[in-house]
Amino acid sequence: MVAAVLLALATYAGIASAWKVHDNAPFGNGGNPPGYAVAASVESSPSATGPSTTPSTAANSSSALNFGPINFAGYNNYVYRDDITAAQIVVSDTTASKPVRFITAFPNGNTGALVYFVPADNQTLGAELNAATVTSVRQEFNQSGITGQLSLNGDATFGVTLIGGVRTLRDYVESGGTVFHSIFNYTLGPYNDSSVTLVRHWINGTTVQYFSFSAIDNCAITVTPNENVTIPPEIIIKRNDSSQNATVSFTSIFNFTGTTPATTHVPLEGLSADSLFLPTTNSTGGTATTSSNLDLVLNAIRTSAGTITEQLAFLSYESESLAGGWRFLTYFGRDTLLALRLLISVFSPEASEAILAAVIQRTNATSGELCHEETIGDYASFVNGNAGLYASGNEASYAYSMVDTDFLLLPTLADYFQQHPDRASSFLQRNSTLVPGTFIELLEANINHVLNLSAAFTANPSVANLVDLRSYPVGDWRDSNAGLGWGHYAFDVNCALVPAALRAIGQLAADGHIPSTYANASSAAQVWEAKACDMFAVTIAPDVAAASLDNYVTVANLSTSQLYGGGSLNGSTNATALGWSDPSQTIGLGSNSSTFYALSLLANGSAVEVLHSDLGFALLYGVDLSPSLMWAVVQALQPYPRGLLTNVGMVVANAAYDNNRTAIDTFSNLAYHGAVSWSWQQGLMAEGISKQLGLCGLSPSTQLVASNSSANATNPAWCADTTLTSALEQAQARLWASIEGSASELYTEVWSPVFANATGTFTVGDLGALSPEGTEGDAVQLWSYGFLAMIDPRTGKPVAEGFGTSATNATGQ
Ligand SMILES: *[C@@H]1O[C@H](CO)[C@@H](O)[C@H](O)[C@H]1NC(C)=O
Ligand SMILES: *[C@@H]1O[C@H](CO)[C@@H](O)[C@H](O)[C@H]1NC(C)=O
Ligand SMILES: *[C@@H]1O[C@H](CO)[C@@H](O)[C@H](O)[C@H]1NC(C)=O
Ligand SMILES: *[C@@H]1O[C@H](CO)[C@@H](O)[C@H](O)[C@H]1NC(C)=O
Ligand SMILES: *[C@@H]1O[C@H](CO)[C@@H](O)[C@H](O)[C@H]1NC(C)=O
Ligand SMILES: *[C@@H]1O[C@H](CO)[C@@H](O)[C@H](O)[C@H]1NC(C)=O
Ligand SMILES: *[C@@H]1O[C@H](CO)[C@@H](O)[C@H](O)[C@H]1NC(C)=O
Ligand SMILES: *[C@@H]1O[C@H](CO)[C@@H](O)[C@H](O)[C@H]1NC(C)=O
Ligand SMILES: *[C@@H]1O[C@H](CO)[C@@H](O)[C@H](O)[C@H]1NC(C)=O
Ligand SMILES: *[C@@H]1O[C@H](CO)[C@@H](O)[C@H](O)[C@H]1NC(C)=O
Ligand SMILES: *[C@@H]1O[C@H](CO)[C@@H](O)[C@H](O)[C@H]1NC(C)=O
Ligand SMILES: *[C@@H]1O[C@H](CO)[C@@H](O)[C@H](O)[C@H]1NC(C)=O
Repeated sequence: MVAAVLLALATYAGIASAWKVHDNAPFGNGGNPPGYAVAASVESSPSATGPSTTPSTAANSSSALNFGPINFAGYNNYVYRDDITAAQIVVSDTTASKPVRFITAFPNGNTGALVYFVPADNQTLGAELNAATVTSVRQEFNQSGITGQLSLNGDATFGVTLIGGVRTLRDYVESGGTVFHSIFNYTLGPYNDSSVTLVRHWINGTTVQYFSFSAIDNCAITVTPNENVTIPPEIIIKRNDSSQNATVSFTSIFNFTGTTPATTHVPLEGLSADSLFLPTTNSTGGTATTSSNLDLVLNAIRTSAGTITEQLAFLSYESESLAGGWRFLTYFGRDTLLALRLLISVFSPEASEAILAAVIQRTNATSGELCHEETIGDYASFVNGNAGLYASGNEASYAYSMVDTDFLLLPTLADYFQQHPDRASSFLQRNSTLVPGTFIELLEANINHVLNLSAAFTANPSVANLVDLRSYPVGDWRDSNAGLGWGHYAFDVNCALVPAALRAIGQLAADGHIPSTYANASSAAQVWEAKACDMFAVTIAPDVAAASLDNYVTVANLSTSQLYGGGSLNGSTNATALGWSDPSQTIGLGSNSSTFYALSLLANGSAVEVLHSDLGFALLYGVDLSPSLMWAVVQALQPYPRGLLTNVGMVVANAAYDNNRTAIDTFSNLAYHGAVSWSWQQGLMAEGISKQLGLCGLSPSTQLVASNSSANATNPAWCADTTLTSALEQAQARLWASIEGSASELYTEVWSPVFANATGTFTVGDLGALSPEGTEGDAVQLWSYGFLAMIDPRTGKPVAEGFGTSATNATGQ
């Protein structure tokens, strides 16, 4: 008999201050674990009692990593990488009467294994990884992986156990335990009273995966196969002396060696932390007296950010970078291109080109679309099979569903060639190893695609000619239907990314990297710059805004104290200096109407009136923005809910001003793209403001390279308005106060600010626990490491050195 897993439910009670709790249970099937694995037959593994831990030969030449725990969202995360394997290990950090989740996840094949250890009736259970015991494993039949020991302080039964692609694990976890496909069932391998091996044959090919446990100290492992093979075996770890911990070893291995032409990049070669970054001018023996911002940051990265750069290195490989761990240990075009955009000034050419090449190599040569996500390993067979492509086996499958990605390559490539002109020619002459074509051919396919998608609007600027989502309702980073409010025309794509891609085409032509016939893309860019953002403008009268805010604080269970001064950031030492209550900087204060910019437009052209952080795209990718848009940035960077800032970070969406009140629920702090904080969006906004101020010759201490290096972009007209530029500098300081309040989450994926009435401030909530959809954040997320390239404008200190006390520290603590 196997107990039901209560993973998500158990966490609700602890978050009394969450302002909304869905009432649907996490399991749609009445509480039983849905698909369990089946013991169809007892199989043998290559070495039944656990593998030898003596590596024979190296499988790759990755640089070694071994660190942890990174504690995030209720889990301890560990990383181990050497020339045999690369793995992330995730273990619940609590001791409670709820299941302990244990995961091993590998970038190779995006492969994973998961087990819930369910405590015996009404007892508590905690598990701790003994990090010193973790090491790689290499065996006959190309089997490789990870082994180590866990200390358990209670008796445990195996609950849901999943072995296969990380996507399989995600499907189960993110659905709250409802999505499980029986094609991924495991079988029971050899067992005795002190060990058990679970076996999984991948759908295609000869890859076999083994997930084994052995008793090391103070316990027995009892395995009872079920006579009915559709019911999984009962597996119990029972302590001999119940006053002491049990120690068990685990081994998670598989032999995915990359057998198809589309998986030539297996095995992955991990890049070292040091090789990711440019050398300092000093270390190359250049100008010894330099004290440039770039050298300052590069030195801080090398001397102060060791553990952070190792996390980034875990996600960085010669052939691609991975979006985040544990949930996204594979290629994602958008994530990697945005990460590179933020890191480009500090990244070495090798690191930059790994990302650029990974994107170009996956271009659809026919359509010029760029690849959003690759599906590899076992899950690729599942995807191919569902598409009726059984003959494709486990060949990688590339998804081209996200229209934003199509525009993200060109601006960053143009910037890269400006910084490293000597690299352009050899880079563009490379051959793709994944799809037919040279890089320049694939690039031209993407350029033509961008020109085609944008042509109608260039000729006739109208809402209907904006760029629609290609695969409605998904299409940009807010990829869920609700994330864009079911809009068709996304702000980020149309206001920022299309014009930036057109600018970049003009730049590449001007720099001689592509034929000069493309030079007239610059005039198309000007049409988009002049017309597209305005189509998202929403005007709101002060009394309407004030009434909306009053309604919002009630519905969202906030307090009216959040509507004054610094709101949750009231700890600011000098409210005047930060412009917290300046009417011209605040929607709903003062006597004039305000303009903000809609998150998206519906098919009929009406606005989804949600205040949002995608303004950061316009700032970082745009060159000739309107004064109206710049004022909207200033107003968005006020405390939430008047703006986006909380004392624990900037939220990415705020529906307070939406005329359609349903949106308040859609964009709550339980929604993946709602009133929640994504660290990289803070980075995008911060770097975007720095760039824009740089175009006016302001905020020089934050700039690593000249802001006017591309696209003839000095001095937009609004630079002459000193009221606006100083308001923007105040907004920049407010943003950084909020960012500093999120310092402990800076390199993670997403979290939910949870309001506490007693203090009038927010604390960091775990979105995965708060939300029944289970969208837990990643502990390491590639694009969040963009902060490594930034300088805090308030102190002039590189973020790589961490945050110190500063005059304008406004965390309210
Ligand atoms: C577990 O606790 C519940 C509620 O306290 C109780 O009803 C039940 O009998 C307990 N079960 C065992 C096996 O102790
Ligand atoms: C016993 O296990 C608990 C939970 O895993 C752990 O926190 C504790 O350190 C362990 N104690 C010993 C002595 O190993
Ligand atoms: C997988 O397990 C499910 C649930 O236990 C069972 O219904 C199904 O038949 C199994 N599928 C295979 C292929 O063994
Ligand atoms: C994987 O390992 C199994 C045995 O564990 C072996 O039968 C199979 O041939 C191996 N496949 C590869 C690709 O090495
Ligand atoms: C085996 O268990 C499944 C449910 O898990 C049930 O539907 C089926 O009838 C059982 N088969 C036998 C032969 O008892
Ligand atoms: C570079 O070297 C010079 C001379 O040794 C030193 O004064 C300067 O501080 C160094 N710059 C940085 C950023 O370390
Ligand atoms: C590539 O684009 C062509 C033309 O639009 C399309 O027919 C094809 O399905 C695309 N390939 C993939 C893998 O999406
Ligand atoms: C992949 O596996 C499926 C399901 O077992 C099978 O139908 C298909 O023929 C296999 N394809 C290859 C190329 O092995
Ligand atoms: C690309 O492939 C072509 C044809 O196979 C070959 O002639 C050429 O040398 C390759 N270019 C590079 C840079 O490897
Ligand atoms: C930059 O400005 C110069 C002079 O006006 C012009 O010739 C050139 O085409 C511009 N470049 C771009 C990329 O717009
Ligand atoms: C607060 O900031 C304002 C505006 O920058 C400045 O005039 C004032 O002196 C500051 N007050 C304190 C106490 O620092
Ligand atoms: C309000 O927004 C919701 C989604 O948030 C949508 O389903 C509904 O149709 C909208 N109502 C109106 C009147 O636009």
